[in-house]
Amino acid sequence: MIVLGIETSCDETAAAIVNDRREILANRVLTQLEEHKPYGGVVPEIAARAHLEHLDVLVAMAMDDAGLDFADLDAVACTGGPGLIGGVMVGTMTAKAIAFAAHKPFIAVNHLEGHALTVRLTDDVAFPYLLLLVSGGHCQILIVKGVGQYKRIGTTIDDAVGEAFDKTAKMMGLGYPGGPALEQLAKKGDPLRFGLPRPLRGRPGCDFSFSGLKTAVRIYLDGFPVEQQTDTVKADLAASFQRAVGETLIDRTRNAVYQFMNEHPGGTTLVVAGGVAANQYLQTRLTELTDQAGLKLVAPPIALCTDNAAMIAWAGLERFRLGEQDGLDFKPRPRWPLDPDAPKRPGAGVKA
Ligand code: KG4
Ligand code: ZN
Repeated sequence: MIVLGIETSCDETAAAIVNDRREILANRVLTQLEEHKPYGGVVPEIAARAHLEHLDVLVAMAMDDAGLDFADLDAVACTGGPGLIGGVMVGTMTAKAIAFAAHKPFIAVNHLEGHALTVRLTDDVAFPYLLLLVSGGHCQILIVKGVGQYKRIGTTIDDAVGEAFDKTAKMMGLGYPGGPALEQLAKKGDPLRFGLPRPLRGRPGCDFSFSGLKTAVRIYLDGFPVEQQTDTVKADLAASFQRAVGETLIDRTRNAVYQFMNEHPGGTTLVVAGGVAANQYLQTRLTELTDQAGLKLVAPPIALCTDNAAMIAWAGLERFRLGEQDGLDFKPRPRWPLDPDAPKRPGAGVKA
């Protein structure tokens, strides 16, 4: 079984092909970083136009890499949401057009389901597992029980963790996206110099909050006249911030681990995915947690943790082999929670 996947929900234009032997036959990702850099963040209108300009070429390149024609495909999958709606429309229209012209089934994939199932493409991980999804747009803890079966047990009540990294890095003048730059700077700093809050630590439940942390960094920075905002001050702030994020994340994830082990005594694995999973310090802290709990930590390779189309092709394939597909009247969804029964909170999932 061979599936083409298309991803256009944020600032990566991507096309990929996978098969049911868990082989990635093509995986093309074009990042729009340079287009958005001058604005310090993703501009939806610019993103949509860039997807439109590049997507057909990327699909052609992916088909070429795999040495396949559309006729060789078993299905065409694309991100149907959630995400920036202009981009999702470009991807959905393209996928529908290919499916229609080549007489192939069309599958609209939830972008979050793509992240959630990636680990089954890269590793031998059986259901159920616990998933910590941490990126610029998402910050959730889910119990993944099966394809299409998700229980969200924690979410951010304000910023996503990558967003907190990016905003903190921006105020320290580190550019966009700030997460990787902040991690590098933190390596040179003293994580104990600045006392920062650990939002929600010790509270029951698995929700996160990061916006207060960012504000606390701002207040420290403002306390220094510009000429005293030296590299050392910034490195110490970066290290203190990263440590506070790590401790907050671990505290909330620990509660999730207990809940997961209670509800699924046979469960063995915590999966961490999303761009922030690239952070080595956070991975070390998470490994400490899973070692204590007797779980295994699995992180897909970073190129498949950040936005890509292989994860969309794979999630489409997982759904298709269960007999699912969508009609060509599918409407792109700017919001599309993985667990519609999860409690709604003000501000939660805004950037999903
Ligand atoms: O998954 P992703 O590529 O895109 C979405 O947001 O969906 O994640 C990008 C996010 C950005 O916020 C970026 O700053 C963050 O992941 N990130 C990191 C690191 N690498 C990427 N945050 C902290 N440390 C890193 N090493
Ligand atoms: Zn994503």
